[in-house]
Parts: sequence; C-alpha cells; structure tokens
Amino acid sequence: MTDSASSHAFHRDHGTLFVEGVSAADLAAQFGTPLYVYSRAALSAAWHAYADACAGRRAKVHVAVKANSNLAVLNVFAREGAGFDIVSAGELARVLAAGGKAADVVFSGVGKTAREMREALEAGVKCFNVESIPELDRLNDVAGQLGMRAPVSLRVNPDVDPKTHPYISTGLKANKFGVAFDEARATYRAAAAMPHLEVVGIDCHIGSQITEISPYLDAIDKVLELVDQIEADGTSIRHIDVGGGLGIRYDDETPPDIGEFVRTVLDRIDAHSAKTGKAREVYFEPGRSLVGNAGLLLTTVEFLKPGAEKNFAIVDAAMNDLARPAMYDAYHAIEPVAERAAPAQTYDVVGPVCESGDWLGRARTLAIEAGDVLAIRSAGAYGFVMSSNYNTRARAAEILVDGTRVHVAREREDVAQLFAGERVLPD
Ligand code: LLP
Repeated sequence: MTDSASSHAFHRDHGTLFVEGVSAADLAAQFGTPLYVYSRAALSAAWHAYADACAGRRAKVHVAVKANSNLAVLNVFAREGAGFDIVSAGELARVLAAGGKAADVVFSGVGKTAREMREALEAGVKCFNVESIPELDRLNDVAGQLGMRAPVSLRVNPDVDPKTHPYISTGLKANKFGVAFDEARATYRAAAAMPHLEVVGIDCHIGSQITEISPYLDAIDKVLELVDQIEADGTSIRHIDVGGGLGIRYDDETPPDIGEFVRTVLDRIDAHSAKTGKAREVYFEPGRSLVGNAGLLLTTVEFLKPGAEKNFAIVDAAMNDLARPAMYDAYHAIEPVAERAAPAQTYDVVGPVCESGDWLGRARTLAIEAGDVLAIRSAGAYGFVMSSNYNTRARAAEILVDGTRVHVAREREDVAQLFAGERVLPD
C-alpha cells in the first residue's frame, strides 16, 4: 500500500504506525478494537487528484457512496463540492445528512423501487441512471404521478473485459447490469418517447479495481459510437458518465495515477466532441480510489495458536467486520502497529467467527505476540459498509483523524442495540 497520498497520512516514526499526527496504538487503546480509522488528509488528497485533473474541463466527480458511506467521510467530500453517486434512498438520505446536495446526485442501481424513485424525484436528484425498459416505464409512471419529468441516462453495457475479479466486473454481456449494447439505440428511442422522462446522458460502469486504462478507452469508444447513433435519432446527449472502478494498490498492483487516468479519459471524449462540434460534460463515479487507501482497520491479537500445518493468529476483527478476504479472496496488507524484536513466524490471520472462511490474511510473516495491535491496510473502501452483525457481533467504531484531532465518526455499537427491534413471543 504505497499510494503517495496515503503514505504521507500513514507513516512510521521509530517503528510506530501513525495516522497523520496520531499514533495508531493510542487510538486502539482509547477506543478499543476492532476500529476503523480514516485519514482526512488522505481522503482530501485523493479527492484533489481527481478534482485538479478536472479543473478547467467540463467534468464532475460523483463520489460512489457505497464504498464508504460514513457521514463524516461524505462530509469531507461535500465540503469540497463533490457530487455523489447513490444506489438507494438510504444513500440519498446519508448524502443529504452529510451536507451534499440532491442536485449533485446521480442515482444508479438495477432495482430502484417506486418509492425510491419518488423520494429521489422529490429531493431533486440530477439524473437517474436507468438499466432496463421496465425501469424506464416505472420511472415514467412515478414522474407522471408527481407531475414531473425525470432526468435519465441509460447505463449501457459496452461488453468489454475490465480484467478484474469476476464478482466485480460488470460490463460484460453475462452481467445483470446495464442495457445490452445492441439494444441501447432502441431503448433510447423508447425513453425519448416517454412523456415524463427527459434524456440527458449516457453512462457505463465496467467493473471495479481496474488497474489499466485501456478497458475504459474501449468502453468509451463504444459509448461514443452509440452517442452518434442516438443523436442521429434526434435525442441529444449532454453528459457521458464513465462510471467508477479505478483500482488501488493493495499489494503490488500498479494502477494508473488518478490524474493521468482522468486526463486520458477527458482527452478521448474531447477529441470526439471536437470532431462532432458538440461539447459534453463528463462524469466520474469513483469509490475505491477515493477512500480505499485512506482507511485501515485496527485489530488486537487475542491468541497465537500454533498448528501442525499452520500457525494461526486469532484476532478480534472478523469477516463480519471486513468481508473482502472471505468474499473475494482479497489481499489486505497486515502489519503490527508497533514493531517488536520477537522472531517472525508465518500465520494465517483469522477472526473468531465460526466459519472456515473467516480469515483476513493468509501466510503472513509477522513478529507478534498476543495482545499486539495489527493494522489491516487499504480498508477504507468496502470495509465498514459491508460489515454485518453475524454472530451477534457489534459493529466497529469509526474514527476520522485530522492532523492531531480525532473525531469519532461512528460510535461502536453495543449488543443491546443489535436486538432492540426484536421481540420474544407474547404469553
Ligand atoms: N458506479 C457504479 C454504478 C458502481 O456499481 C460502482 C461500484 C461504482 C461506481 C464505484 O466503483 P469503484 O470506483 O469503487 O470501483 N464490494 C466490492 C466492490 C463492488 C463495486 C460495486 N460497484 C469490493 O469490495 O471489491
């Protein structure tokens, strides 16, 4: 994990891990573990990498809320003037509570309910990214009932291979997402004919943790081909949304620099605009590349358990806190917050949940003892947001560090909260 912004925010001083000006060990001692910790400087640096590359161009960045929806984190971006990409009415409520504006929100997702559509229309979101004809029909009905016209963009499926994990690639024909490329033109005609819809744009999102620019350019070329056809049919396309998906460094990946990625995408679309004489706004929907390396998960070693084939380090965080290893076989770097002189051994780092799939790291060489605090790196994206209460485990607290200031972004849950809504049977 060595993205430049995050390596400033997370650094070592005399062998001790710091998050900006605060020692990770002190945070663990004060707030307990498991504990998610985010760096405001790292969040802002990633934001500025996007925003600076967009400056002076017709481009807007919409933070994908699903990657990290904590109000304090969203608030950091809202203060910078970010737009937001949401996939539920719940995420819309979070954006508004965090100081974001509905007019800067794009609403993605393959299964929006009528109620969610109504709430988003009433709030005044900027655009619905629609994925099918039945969804267009539903949105047209809901907008009609409200006496409104809903701004829409169709998410088209460009059928390109993003070369990432199959669970997080979304732009292939076999995926549930988007309107098939071959049906997109006809679907745009259908949308243009619906009285309560106003076609404003086109979008695609080809996957996540993409570490090369070329799949984006392939997708954009296909989208631009469609734009020409749709405009030939008399519908004008004001914006092109290229989705999110830019990868980060978890281990030894070498994703493109954010600025280079943004400029390459904008140049490709601008070249088409110059040719056709039509300038269009470009939207980005990054999640992971904004928040992933701005966060870590602190956990305490409960026991070291030597085994015949393997040694286990049993820690107090588990698959319910960080699902990515169990779910995607994902790698997260793991390191002790304080270096010690103990002999290093190879461990599988596992949680206390009753599942063999409950692991956080495999075959890691660590010099540790029971009671040590470990940092699981790159946990700012799809970390806390994917956590659950499995095994009736209360979810971790979240802390946002800003210089030497420590802000409790979310309190640790307690067990009583977990079943507060449940009832035993009446007599
Ligand atoms: N826009 C749309 C329509 C999306 O579906 C997603 C992510 C994004 C933007 C943001 O993508 P990002 O920049 O974060 O790659 N839970 C998985 C990742 C799922 C991504 C889902 N869609 C993981 O932990 O790797």
